[in-house]
Amino acid sequence: MSLTVALSKGKLLAGSAALFARAGLPFPEDEGRRLVVEMNGLRFLFVKDMDVPTYVEYGVADCGVAGRDVLLETGGDVLEPLDLGFGRCRLVVARRREDAAHHGRQSTVRVATKYPRVAARHFQERGFSVEVVKLSGSVEIAPGLGLADCIVDVVETGGTLAANGLVPVEEVASSSARFIVNRAGYHARRDEVARLLQSLRRAAA
Ligand code: PRP
Repeated sequence: MSLTVALSKGKLLAGSAALFARAGLPFPEDEGRRLVVEMNGLRFLFVKDMDVPTYVEYGVADCGVAGRDVLLETGGDVLEPLDLGFGRCRLVVARRREDAAHHGRQSTVRVATKYPRVAARHFQERGFSVEVVKLSGSVEIAPGLGLADCIVDVVETGGTLAANGLVPVEEVASSSARFIVNRAGYHARRDEVARLLQSLRRAAA
């Protein structure tokens, strides 16, 4: 049976395609809307980025590529044997340029984010009482519209923050793409997983 690899069609897709090509592994190029693609001994699942760890944790996929940001948020019980080195970004707290100086002065913070667990943990650990407003995207507009005091989001180039009048005021975590493996599959399909891992490790170096 082929190994199943869970991938997302988001920001990590181009980096994953380049990595698999360098490793001499098959990778579906343009499969349109097909979400399960079998190719030369590998089966690929294309799912939402936040769902990649779930497919791997439940063993529906043997392995996958997920950002550390997503792994911190989902807390899935998966093995994380390899930092793939691409998809580098930072999770930050950002707020409106004009109230950056107020940051840390309120005891209760309202934060808009796609990362509710990461955001809640970050503020709670620092002794703030936090109200999390969960959004699915475009979080950068929330402070300007009065929905939240600040956001927790990923920043790559910083372009989206700047274009929406926000500045980073705290770093929460750094992130990059990780190769993740199902815990049981790592042992049960040891040889196949090890071969794939070795090819990717060489290509990522
Ligand atoms: C992410 C993030 C920011 C943007 C940051 O969104 O939520 O909006 O990228 O990138 P930048 O610093 O280079 O401007 P993404 O494009 O992944 O879309 P999404 O909001 O649909 O998840």
